[in-house]
Amino acid sequence: MVKRMIADRHRNLGSLGSDINAVVVGATGGIGSAFVEALMGIETVSRVFALSRSDPRLDTTRATWIPIDIEDEDSVQTAAEEIRSLVGELHLVIVASGVLHHGETLQPEKTWRALSAKSLERAFRTNTVGPILVAKHLLPLLAKNRKSAFAALSARVGSISDNRLGGWHSYRASKAALNMLLKTLSIELMRVNPHALCVGLHPGTVDSGLSKPFQANVPKSRLFSPQLAASHLLNVIDGLTPEQSGRVFAWDGTEIPF
Ligand SMILES: NC(=O)c1ccc[n+]([C@@H]2O[C@H](COP(=O)([O-])OP(=O)(O)OC[C@H]3O[C@@H](n4cnc5c(N)ncnc54)[C@H](OP(=O)(O)O)[C@@H]3O)[C@@H](O)[C@H]2O)c1
Repeated sequence: MVKRMIADRHRNLGSLGSDINAVVVGATGGIGSAFVEALMGIETVSRVFALSRSDPRLDTTRATWIPIDIEDEDSVQTAAEEIRSLVGELHLVIVASGVLHHGETLQPEKTWRALSAKSLERAFRTNTVGPILVAKHLLPLLAKNRKSAFAALSARVGSISDNRLGGWHSYRASKAALNMLLKTLSIELMRVNPHALCVGLHPGTVDSGLSKPFQANVPKSRLFSPQLAASHLLNVIDGLTPEQSGRVFAWDGTEIPF
């Protein structure tokens, strides 16, 4: 009931028109699964493709699971070909996958002494390379005759000019690199598809497996549920215009500087 009310609060993605075909990458994640659920609650959304490594166990026929490992280009290409064969064109792609910690391979570094090639590679593979491979194969599917959007979840800590605390070297750098690539893609996209936009989004601090170990100092009022985060970000996407392509926006619509 609460989730339904949150879905109703969207401006229903009106700026994307009707019969919206949407893709959510990272559909098993905290925020990704909330995106899938929110999109299914919007009447103008016809199809939702939920992409993830494991089955998100969707209880509806309006959403279709397609397996993907974003770190494996063959898998990304296969998923894109399947989507193309099913719907032809897309109007919204949200990349909600990512990693901040992963056992012994990756933990947010408190000092340069904790840096390793392994942790840097791990963060970059999932947070930078993966989303960009998704962009390579799905940007060409964005509709050309109306507004469409490609949005990848970035993070405020990926802002170079806003980096006052230091730490979290691998994660910060992987998101900063993601932001640069999104900007670069947006320039090419503008030339071939002027109605489309390509942005980074910061969801705020969201109660998910990714943030769980780092929530101790987050005031309750600043810790969003995944449902609220998805609702915020759909509103941001709805309000953006192609002129704003290439930039990074926070959950409240404010721009995050590079
Ligand atoms: N939570 C926050 O406070 C916060 C703040 C700022 C930014 N963000 C960003 O928001 C995004 C979503 O975060 P979240 O909080 O929802 O994290 P989460 O619950 O840990 O979800 C991350 C998702 O990424 C998927 N993933 C990882 N590697 C993948 C791969 N190679 N191929 C396909 N999927 C892969 C995971 O799939 P598996 O289930 O298969 O592992 C999982 O579904 C991330 O980019 C994160 O950096 C989050």
